[in-house]
Amino acid sequence: MPRTASGAIVATSLVTARGSAPWRGAELGAPMVIEDAGIAWSDGVITFVGPAEELRGTDPEVFRGCTIAPGFVDCHTHLPFVGWRADEFELRLAGRSYRDLHGEGGIYRSARLFAEATDDEVMAFCRPLVAEMADHGTTAMELKTGYGLSVEGELRQARLARRLADEAPQATTVTLLACHAVPEAMEREDWVRTACAELIPAAAAEGLADAVDLYVEDIAFTLDDLRAVAEAAAAAGLPVRCHADQLGPSGAAEEAVKLGARSADHLNNVSNEGVRALGEGGTVGVLLPASTAFMRAVPPPVRTLVETGAAIALATDFNPGTSPVLSMPEAVATGCSLYGLTPLEAVTASTLNPAWVLGMAERAGTLEVGKRADLLVLEGEAFRQVPYRPGHNPVLHAYAGGTRVGGR
Ligand code: NIG
Ligand code: FE
Repeated sequence: MPRTASGAIVATSLVTARGSAPWRGAELGAPMVIEDAGIAWSDGVITFVGPAEELRGTDPEVFRGCTIAPGFVDCHTHLPFVGWRADEFELRLAGRSYRDLHGEGGIYRSARLFAEATDDEVMAFCRPLVAEMADHGTTAMELKTGYGLSVEGELRQARLARRLADEAPQATTVTLLACHAVPEAMEREDWVRTACAELIPAAAAEGLADAVDLYVEDIAFTLDDLRAVAEAAAAAGLPVRCHADQLGPSGAAEEAVKLGARSADHLNNVSNEGVRALGEGGTVGVLLPASTAFMRAVPPPVRTLVETGAAIALATDFNPGTSPVLSMPEAVATGCSLYGLTPLEAVTASTLNPAWVLGMAERAGTLEVGKRADLLVLEGEAFRQVPYRPGHNPVLHAYAGGTRVGGR
């Protein structure tokens, strides 16, 4: 296939949500499906979506038995990081807990590995992972800090994230996970004060962050810390996001909604009040089924969330501790089998809704004239083939901005 920012293809079907606001409730599972469909783009921008017959005369490439879908938007990853932690996985299988390993292992270990590596080593570790994500259909994604654990360390990680973003073919945003773990030899309150007074303003001034995140957990940060970080983020003109109710309940989901957070992520132990708040509020519930499966954690009440009207998104949570999974097809497959999402709900939750979380829904997340030509040619006559074959890469071709960037 030629590498060009213009093209036209037809396939057995095309599926896409529409617009630039998150879809929720019954709408979530009702993206538009066109049988015998075509799409065309010019200079990286979509110029046509509709019946294949209307593309006759333009000599489109034909993919029989295939589905055209928007590129996956992975709105929760922990790249850039360096080094794996497979031994911790094995220890957990033998009975140790994530909380128990927090220190010798966990976030602190990844922070030590990051501090010991040179910038070039970090980049060399991450580059092939970003390419593997493109091969699995991720055409837009989030990068996050959180392994820096000092003002200088976090800024260094954010700069590396921007460097990775500059090289990556995907549209990419950077989230400053300012409060991920309390730096060793520091009191929690002192770190939160430093993050709010120094780190967040410095990252914003240097243009290093598109959002700010915080990990609310008994081993990490509190609701008061979330309020303080949200205030500092707002003062810096950045949206706030939050790791909420992952290992245990904390009330973080409802607090995130109250604070107008862009997203509340994980939600394994979300309270009924949190579900109600997400159902009524504008905060997207980001579900991370690969990390739930990998951690053998209790699944969030996903059907109740959808029925209550919450807007949900699916992402990988790609990180070396709780989710060494970078494949969005795998996240979709796990989201369907473990959380009971329908394949069409998974389409919206892995494209439009996460694009909104990343603040890029005006230009990505759906296949519509005027949006960036971020699209996939998937194996199978309908999107249902994607969750049906976990572990298999269904992405034949992935285009970002109209250029082929990955696939099989
Ligand atoms: O999203 N829970 C906090 N942060 C990550 C895990 C980070 C790690 O273990 O390195 C998560 O699961
Ligand atoms: Fe995470």
